[in-house]
Amino acid sequence: MSVSVIQLTDLHLLADIALDFKGQNPWRNLNHLLAQIACEGQPDLYLLTGDLCQDHSPEAARTVYRMLAERMDQTGARWQWIPGNHDEPELMADFKTPEPSVVVGDWQWLLLNSNSGSPHGELAESERQALLASLDKPKARFQAVAVHHQPVLVGPERKGMFYFELKDPERVAGIDSIPLQDDGWLWQTLCQQPQVKAVICGHVHQDQQIGRDGLTLFSTPATSIQFRADINDFELDEQAPGYRCFDLSDDGVVTSRVERLKQHF
Ligand SMILES: [Fe+2]
Repeated sequence: MSVSVIQLTDLHLLADIALDFKGQNPWRNLNHLLAQIACEGQPDLYLLTGDLCQDHSPEAARTVYRMLAERMDQTGARWQWIPGNHDEPELMADFKTPEPSVVVGDWQWLLLNSNSGSPHGELAESERQALLASLDKPKARFQAVAVHHQPVLVGPERKGMFYFELKDPERVAGIDSIPLQDDGWLWQTLCQQPQVKAVICGHVHQDQQIGRDGLTLFSTPATSIQFRADINDFELDEQAPGYRCFDLSDDGVVTSRVERLKQHF
């Protein structure tokens, strides 16, 4: 039996549900997307890949995490979240215990925390050791990895490169100026694991599929604002908010498609 997974990412929710974020209402977008998904049937698993909250006071962030956990519970489907650079992992844990992995059928998702306290991402030594242990003793035939920050770069003329491979990093602007900074450790580790079939990230606010060394990175439109792809800067894109659906087969094949909000207000 194949496994269905939906990735929701970069929700950037605000405690005041009436407020907009850069011209989008994050709660309205999320609720419309979840309603659209409900019409087509719930997945086996939702993965929320960070930047869940755009409010930075602890009180407001707690409100956002509580409301989001309640909303996801309402779907009736299994779900998990990982933090992004805008999140507070300790506050998230008050509403949903962080799990290092989740197993659905023949698939184990390894869930990473790349929050470094800065806009770019890092993997703490404890996070690396936990990942290595999970790779060493898989709990399912196939594995996939979710991390907020992009482990390979996504921008023009550097797509698929590691940040440390850039000859002139000071000229990089936009989302690639704040990627996962790990000297390629994550990607190079995963490439050596044939049971690892995919890596997904948030942060990018774009639909991309990038292959390197036999492994594919999937990035996904935000449920909030979109960033233009293929420019060396941050610029808002007019495309509708969206999500990514994965079909994970019982012979290890990953199929995915991006869906966008059909009626965008
Ligand atoms: Fe984001």
